[in-house]
Amino acid sequence: MIAIRPSAARVPHQAGGGSLVPRSPPRRYGARPNASSVNQSNHRRMNTNRRKWDESVPLHVASPSYHVPSFLQGKSTLEPLEVHELGSVRGKSLLHLQCHFGLDTLSWARRGATVTGVDFSLPAVRAARGLARRAGIKARFLQSNVYDLPDVLEEQFDIVYTGKGAIWWLPDIERWAQVVARFVRPGGRFLLLEDHPFAEVFSDEVDGEPRIPYFTSRAIREEYDGTYATSTKMRHRVTYGWIHPVSRVLSALIENGLGIERIREYPFCYWQRNPLMTQDRRGYWRLKENKGMIPLMWSVTARRKPPGNQ
Ligand SMILES: C[S@@+](CC[C@H](N)C(=O)[O-])C[C@H]1O[C@@H](n2cnc3c(N)ncnc32)[C@H](O)[C@@H]1O
Repeated sequence: MIAIRPSAARVPHQAGGGSLVPRSPPRRYGARPNASSVNQSNHRRMNTNRRKWDESVPLHVASPSYHVPSFLQGKSTLEPLEVHELGSVRGKSLLHLQCHFGLDTLSWARRGATVTGVDFSLPAVRAARGLARRAGIKARFLQSNVYDLPDVLEEQFDIVYTGKGAIWWLPDIERWAQVVARFVRPGGRFLLLEDHPFAEVFSDEVDGEPRIPYFTSRAIREEYDGTYATSTKMRHRVTYGWIHPVSRVLSALIENGLGIERIREYPFCYWQRNPLMTQDRRGYWRLKENKGMIPLMWSVTARRKPPGNQ
């Protein structure tokens, strides 16, 4: 485990050593991973995280960073990039993994998808259901650890979607990819829009010094008062995260039967991860100094191969 110094705001980060593309034996697509297959220490770490997420929910619902009042007035919380990557979702079933309190899930519903949001935080799921009611949007929200979802949900979906601060919180990216593949129907699609793991190497502080290795599978322990969306001093301060190199995420998806359609890397980000970042006209955050020197966000679109083509 790697411990890093307290940071003022942000939620994620940390890791430790490893090969570029650790290989695991080929597995049957659609195997049933669950949280009990994640080791006990990481299970405890996820529970520590969950306590902080639970506490964050009312603070985030009230936070200007999440713009709940504008959402209720009809504004979408989706990034134009992700809307572009998926194209029309009208009439499609969509599963959102790690949906927090559901704003993005509900925004996909407004675009015509039949949505299911999943999060391991019960307060988050309850807040999502409340928002769906207030906004008059039909949606289903389930409480589950991502790794337990195959025990909770039977069906498959046209689209599985996740990201924007999601996979940092998962200790085992290979098992995550099994879960993703389990829920994409044959021929269906997967979209991940996520913080770029290389950006995680650098501190979110003004100095932006390297702080954690890119290649490590160790848990990164952080301690901070608030979150990326609130400066309120919270009772739960400790979190654990895991860095997932691009090659490892892609390999895990491919090994589980997902054919990669597009990978994109961006020199900007959907949130202000460093105080020196400035917002462009589209609302994305960029490093003013060192512009374009490091990737800040990335996306993957993939399609589950139809039967007989795996
Ligand atoms: C940054 S939020 C997700 C991003 C979302 N787009 C947002 O900003 O609202 C991360 C979410 O992951 C959830 N989470 C973390 N670890 C999880 C796990 N192992 N299983 C399910 N949900 C998890 C947290 O409860 C939290 O709601």
